[in-house]
Amino acid sequence: MPYITEENITEIALPRWGSGDDPRAAELLTALVRHLHAFAREVQLAEAEWAAAIKWLVRTGKISDEKREEFILASDVLGLSMLVVQMSNKWDPAATPATVLGPFHLDRSPDAEYGADMSEGIPGAPLYIHGVVRDIDGKPVGGAVLDVWQADSDGLYESQLSVDEARLRAKYTSREDGSYCVRTIVPFGYGIPDDGPVRELVNLTNMSTFRPAHVHFLIEAPGYERVITHLFREGTPHLDNDVVYGVKKELVVSFVENEPGPTPNGGESAEPFFTVEYDFVLQPQRPSPAGAGA
Ligand code: BEZ
Ligand code: FE
Repeated sequence: MPYITEENITEIALPRWGSGDDPRAAELLTALVRHLHAFAREVQLAEAEWAAAIKWLVRTGKISDEKREEFILASDVLGLSMLVVQMSNKWDPAATPATVLGPFHLDRSPDAEYGADMSEGIPGAPLYIHGVVRDIDGKPVGGAVLDVWQADSDGLYESQLSVDEARLRAKYTSREDGSYCVRTIVPFGYGIPDDGPVRELVNLTNMSTFRPAHVHFLIEAPGYERVITHLFREGTPHLDNDVVYGVKKELVVSFVENEPGPTPNGGESAEPFFTVEYDFVLQPQRPSPAGAGA
């Protein structure tokens, strides 16, 4: 074997990283080494810069836990999450498009009845999001589970606060005719967390650190592709410069202001309230490629 030089190290490393029995792992690892070496050569990476990057990764790991997903946030602001979302969800154009999951989703949200209020006790203008879950042929999809979550009017998610009970999140199930109704509060735009290594990185640029006002949905129904998406408020700031590249035109919806009176869940509001009417359109499940793992 030749001794290592700046010129030959990549060609020596590549076969080592491609030597495993799993062909996909070999493909991923060799491409990673190739691109890392090319990056270091292109920018002539200095030792001090290498050390700073390692420290940044360590800090990103240390600040992460089951509630704080700083690596997801890093992937989001780098545009990697949205690139992977788009490559992975090539659906019929009629289907509701997917967007980023983000770092603030929590598992096991409580079940909520049609039209139940997931914002109880939290200040904000009442908002009803309602419509039908259907498939691309227009067939209603009953029994779809809509896992919904959002930030409060300070831009904070439950996972950023110390609270004992589920806050601004719930799981709704579409009725037999596909109809669903979420009662919540009008969302506001917010900045990504300003106390961590990802924000430090973003602060080396002049880009916006904000997300436009939105509500998150993760929708699952047997026989259909899972869709992770948002609904954005039309006209809200930062639709054109979302820090995580998540906005798609199909997901920008009008928030209609209503006088006090009957609400979409069959109730009555004594105060003005907002409504969004939106049908989620699900992509029928595609057969998984032969030989693909679970
Ligand atoms: C969110 O919408 O919750 C979010 C997504 C990506 C980065 C930060 C926040
Ligand atoms: Fe969000």
